[in-house]
Amino acid sequence: RAKRPAGAPDKKLARPVTKVGIVGAGLMASQLALLFVRRLEVPVVLSDLDQERVDKGVAYVHAELDKLLAKGRISQDRANRHKALVSGVVEKSEAFADADFVIEAVFEEMGVKKSVFADVEKVVSAECVLATNTSSLSITEMAADLEHPERVVGFHFFNPVAVMPLLEIIQGGATDDATLATAFATGKALKKTTILVQDSPSFIVNRLLGRFMSEVSKVVDAGTPIEVVDGAFSGVAPMPPLTLMALVGPAIALHNTETLAGAFPERFYVSPALERVVAARKPSYFGPDGALDPE
Ligand code: CAA
Repeated sequence: RAKRPAGAPDKKLARPVTKVGIVGAGLMASQLALLFVRRLEVPVVLSDLDQERVDKGVAYVHAELDKLLAKGRISQDRANRHKALVSGVVEKSEAFADADFVIEAVFEEMGVKKSVFADVEKVVSAECVLATNTSSLSITEMAADLEHPERVVGFHFFNPVAVMPLLEIIQGGATDDATLATAFATGKALKKTTILVQDSPSFIVNRLLGRFMSEVSKVVDAGTPIEVVDGAFSGVAPMPPLTLMALVGPAIALHNTETLAGAFPERFYVSPALERVVAARKPSYFGPDGALDPE
């Protein structure tokens, strides 16, 4: 639910964003780095647990800029400038010290995210916004143990980040107006459609999508071949449900349903077949052995 139809607090409260830190260098984090560098044109620092992941994240941004250059969408100058603005580190402390907006896109687990924010808080200024791209977890709880919980805000993007226009901005119990105003101003600079969302399990889009996916999972678990399920949506939705699940990632989809089933057990269904896909670390239901036996 949009808390305030008008959306953001007074934009005069927004603080400038002159450097961005991104925690995580996986697919979501790399897509965020690309978006931030293209739209804000400020230094963007990606960080992850090891150099290999960091290098992969930076390489993704460079490769996407090269694709835009090859399509004639950006000039060589711009591509070079944006590449030079993106860097990667394993040790956050120095590189994040003067960031005024840090967003995390790490593993979807409360303990991991809390510990990331606790680490980041030690090195950034008291006013640096700590944004989370969580798709379902409580912003209030994530901020609870911090020294400055008022600067934590949900900043939830959709896959593929470059294309999907919506950005859910989630106000936690402690989030203050300056943080919210900065989040809205940043969302606008990123050219996203921003909505203010209350802190509730899976927010708006994933809660609705989760209900739909629960029914899809029941149909799959009842034995309907996945191609038939997806085929039924051909021409109906921009992307059939199990293809969409592959895009988002089965682990995220499962986590979302588990969060929702925990909050509203009567409404959401956790699929054993999806649990098996995730346990087997498969990228999707598809593939040579992707069509799982519903038993
Ligand atoms: N990364 C960047 N750009 C991409 C892309 C990607 N992965 N996939 C497609 N695009 C771009 C293409 O380059 C193309 O851009 P141009 O027109 O400028 O050349 C444009 O998107 C359209 O692509 P296509 O013509 O190839 O394909 P399409 O018409 O089928 O559109 C789509 C692709 C936009 C992804 C469409 O299939 C779609 O809307 N799918 C649904 C996506 C969706 O619902 N996402 C939300 C998932 S839920 C979530 O993310 C929440 C969460 O927390 C887990």
